[in-house]
Amino acid sequence: MRSYYMAGNWKMHKTVAESVALAKALVAGLGNCKERVMIAPAFTALSAVAEVVKGTNIILGAQNMGPELQGAHTGEISPLMLKDLGVAAVILGHSERRHSYLETDALINKKVLLALAQGLDPILCVGETLEEREAGNLEAVVGAQVKEGLKGVAASELGKVTIAYEPVWAIGTGKTATPEDADAVHAYIRKVLGGMYGDAPAKAMCIQYGGSVKPDNAAELMAKPNIDGALVGGAALKAETFAPIAMFRS
Ligand code: PGA
Repeated sequence: MRSYYMAGNWKMHKTVAESVALAKALVAGLGNCKERVMIAPAFTALSAVAEVVKGTNIILGAQNMGPELQGAHTGEISPLMLKDLGVAAVILGHSERRHSYLETDALINKKVLLALAQGLDPILCVGETLEEREAGNLEAVVGAQVKEGLKGVAASELGKVTIAYEPVWAIGTGKTATPEDADAVHAYIRKVLGGMYGDAPAKAMCIQYGGSVKPDNAAELMAKPNIDGALVGGAALKAETFAPIAMFRS
């Protein structure tokens, strides 16, 4: 049976105590979940949340990481530090990193390669702004983000990478791409991947949708053939909203 990858991005929310409480509620609520589930708390809560999810079916993720292993990089977090805490996955190139902190495709690519080299599974986020979509540049923008983000990633490593398609205009706005629109972009991403790696790896690639995923729209999005999971922001902040998304088949 097809399995889905459901990830919660907690962004810059929650103290350590609040993060632990949410992680505990999710461990309790997701014991029977059929899907692969990941949660990405703030860096400050990773250590405490690691203790809560250890030995459960919930994967610990980080929301970002620095592009180097160590050195004079004030304010950055190394993949070695993440691994040390039990982190297994890392979100890279989120649109908030691209737009608010001006991360380029080249920088994101460096992080993707470093994450893979260090055994962390990257989620590479891609997505167009409203202006880019309205100007007819959706495919050019998303296609370039996929190609640049994966530059140098060997075919043998591709299975460790997840792509999250997140239209920027749908993030935190309550506006979701229609399942049909999202599926069409996912199909396009698969076409780009097919050109890079061949049809079979492209077909096998896990492509999440992100942007205002909620309990009441998760099932219809996941029903689409090219949508393999969700990257959830706002609705990931409460067990009452994230658990039903992760358990949409139950
Ligand atoms: P949202 O965020 O679910 O709040 O729209 C998604 C994301 O930014 O990953």
